[in-house]
Amino acid sequence: MKEQLERYAAVINRRLGELMGAYNEENAGAQLICPEAMRYSLSAGGKRIRPVLCLEFAHIFGAEEKALDAACALEMIHTFSLIHDDLPCMDNDDFRRGKPSCHKQFDEAQALLAGDALENYAFEVIASDDKLSFEQRVKLIKCLSRNVGVMGMIGGQVIDVKNEGSRLDGESLLKMYSMKTSALIKCACEMGVICAGRDDMLPVAEEYGECLGLAFQIVDDILDVTSDEATLGKPIGSDAENCKNTYVSLLGLEEAQRIAAELTDKAIDALKVFGDEAEFLISLSEKLLSRNK
Ligand code: IPE
Ligand code: IPE
Ligand code: MG
Ligand code: MG
Ligand code: MG
Repeated sequence: MKEQLERYAAVINRRLGELMGAYNEENAGAQLICPEAMRYSLSAGGKRIRPVLCLEFAHIFGAEEKALDAACALEMIHTFSLIHDDLPCMDNDDFRRGKPSCHKQFDEAQALLAGDALENYAFEVIASDDKLSFEQRVKLIKCLSRNVGVMGMIGGQVIDVKNEGSRLDGESLLKMYSMKTSALIKCACEMGVICAGRDDMLPVAEEYGECLGLAFQIVDDILDVTSDEATLGKPIGSDAENCKNTYVSLLGLEEAQRIAAELTDKAIDALKVFGDEAEFLISLSEKLLSRNK
């Protein structure tokens, strides 16, 4: 599993570098600070979970290569979400992926614009992907735009920020996690399936991604309390400082951990139809539950 994960990360990083090569001194000299800021945050060393999920779901159906650009588009969207999430008007965090946040390294205006540019470039990359049919490209764009927008990640961020300092009940909290985090993770799994032309498997991708995403956010909230900044690469205690609604603040660490484990089991259950082919995803899900960063 570890070798496969490293191989995926290497392939993704190489392709992200190639795609960012579209902007250079010659064609973007006057606005070069923007691709510099995009590159800075992209290459700061994230775990690459979303693109890995996309590649693996395609790999199961023998279509890994076809999914590479879609996977990179997912990482661009995710990085955009992190750049904006760290801004002073959002979580106000100065450290990300072990380095100063984009708005600290550059400035707020450039961080905002780099995030916007990453989001746009993601859709350009998918629309230009001639390894896929036009129909597949439209399906990918529809899936991604829907899961990033008002009904997905952005909507979840709205609820998160709007409810700082007030108390959400369990059901509303679950809805918020589902939108701000599961939507993109679920979408990554679905996009792999679409690239492989196996739309009949979309319900499996959806169920697995939804449960994995919820567990992923709960563990992220736990680490905000139990980890340290050097390991995590981002500030700890940020949620308490911002009076965020989390499973930890609502139910305590132990119960949060128990629910994350339960959701991980549920995610793994959804993979039964894949038989032995599910081995990598099962190990990945377990690893994410016990991760320390
Ligand atoms: C952080 O995501 C934001 C959440 C949705 C919890 P990751 O933990 O995947 O961040 P990177 O990509 O590894 O930096
Ligand atoms: C962010 O949740 C989810 C996103 C959509 C970016 P957090 O605010 O908890 O993510 P971190 O802890 O800053 O990475
Ligand atoms: Mg946040
Ligand atoms: Mg944050
Ligand atoms: Mg967090």
